[in-house]
Amino acid sequence: MSATREPIGVIGTGYVGLVTAAGFAELGSDVWCVDIDAAKIERLRRGEVPIYEPGLEELLARNAARLHFSTDLAGALEHARLLFVAVGTPPTHSGDADLTAVNAVVDEMPGSERHALVMKSTVPCGTGATIQRVLRERGKQAMAYVSCPEFLKEGSAVNDFRHPDRVVVGDTGGWAGDAVVELYAPLSAALVRTDVASAEMIKLASNAFLATKISFINEIANVCEETGADVIEVGRGVGLDDRIGSKFLQAGIGYGGSCFTKDVSALKLLAANSGYHFQLLNAVTEVNELQKRRVVSKLQRHIGDLAGKRVGLLGLAFKPETDDMRGASSLVLAARLLAEGAVVSAYDPVAEQEARELMPELCYCDSAFETVNDADAVVLVTEWKELRELDWSKVAPLMRGDLVIDGRNALDPQAIRAAGLTYEGIGRR
Ligand SMILES: NC(=O)c1ccc[n+]([C@@H]2O[C@H](COP(=O)([O-])OP(=O)(O)OC[C@H]3O[C@@H](n4cnc5c(N)ncnc54)[C@H](O)[C@@H]3O)[C@@H](O)[C@H]2O)c1
Repeated sequence: MSATREPIGVIGTGYVGLVTAAGFAELGSDVWCVDIDAAKIERLRRGEVPIYEPGLEELLARNAARLHFSTDLAGALEHARLLFVAVGTPPTHSGDADLTAVNAVVDEMPGSERHALVMKSTVPCGTGATIQRVLRERGKQAMAYVSCPEFLKEGSAVNDFRHPDRVVVGDTGGWAGDAVVELYAPLSAALVRTDVASAEMIKLASNAFLATKISFINEIANVCEETGADVIEVGRGVGLDDRIGSKFLQAGIGYGGSCFTKDVSALKLLAANSGYHFQLLNAVTEVNELQKRRVVSKLQRHIGDLAGKRVGLLGLAFKPETDDMRGASSLVLAARLLAEGAVVSAYDPVAEQEARELMPELCYCDSAFETVNDADAVVLVTEWKELRELDWSKVAPLMRGDLVIDGRNALDPQAIRAAGLTYEGIGRR
């Protein structure tokens, strides 16, 4: 790759910032990464990767010479015109997006005409306009502003950077938007060049739609359970319709993660704050919360009162191939089981350390087999490959009971039944 590519700054070295930094470094840019977390920056300087994301370690190592890590913005400001912002925007207590970190970055901006803020963090529609107004009020209006929302998926983020479905660039048509478009050009992705507000809304609407699809198929699964249909067959038949598509039509115990819940809530409240009642998203959220809890009633239906019963949770991360526990369905499920008096053993191939911090009360195990030992029931929570491929003939003799709840419809019911166990999926016959 050419070494003459535009150098960039990346502020925030979390899941989005690190992948963006490593991805652009691979394309030939020098990347100046900044984070307020000094321990994280120290680890990155030593060549350690603070998160689990397949392929990221190799990508960072391969491009180490082009990646510069600091807690100080000065290097990024000196070397780069484009400053990508990838700091967190978690929900506040009220459910709105918390823009404290974004605002802290804006406060540090020099406002020179040489620089542009490129917003990768997911922010409510209108944030770009507010930031530009604030910059104007501070006499820093010369600084350009671009919205460039991120769509990567944890677990396949490196591949998503290289092969994005689309690149969205929202600006007023100046040099900075052109420079961002140029940076992404080698990826040959579909480009949506639009205004800032529309770019911001594309991100929120995309996540809200995906969450809606999940809650929709989960409700269909629940109706399947009442009517004898099989949601796997239904999802396949529905998904083959080109207008609908097959992705995100897999029923399960609800979506988690750092993005869907907060972005659905942020969009709902953004609408409410603007005077519009976004009814559909209320239902999407409620269905998802109830879905996480349905496993508890399934357990009770099969094994009665859960007090003193041992339940093994297989997988804890919010999805496979990540160590991210933010918003994981396992958090709600485990809390409900503990509240019912169950003893909860748990295993996750990667996320144990993160899970221990959030749920110290669980009995953590080193393997799936240890987790099922003496269990009255086991629940597949996260469909890691090693859990999908578990040898159920070895599981059965270890368990005290015989119930297997497949919270992701990812297991083979025949293999489980052949091992003498009782299989129950979500909306499956
Ligand atoms: N994680 C995803 O899958 C994903 C996907 C698309 C979009 N997003 C959005 O991207 C943004 C970042 O998400 P993430 O998951 O990477 O977050 P993260 O929590 O993993 O990382 C955020 C980083 O920003 C740092 N930070 C906070 N304040 C800072 C400041 N003032 N200066 C410098 N660094 C600062 C934190 O220390 C942390 O390292 C969010 O708005 C999120 O909604 C996330």
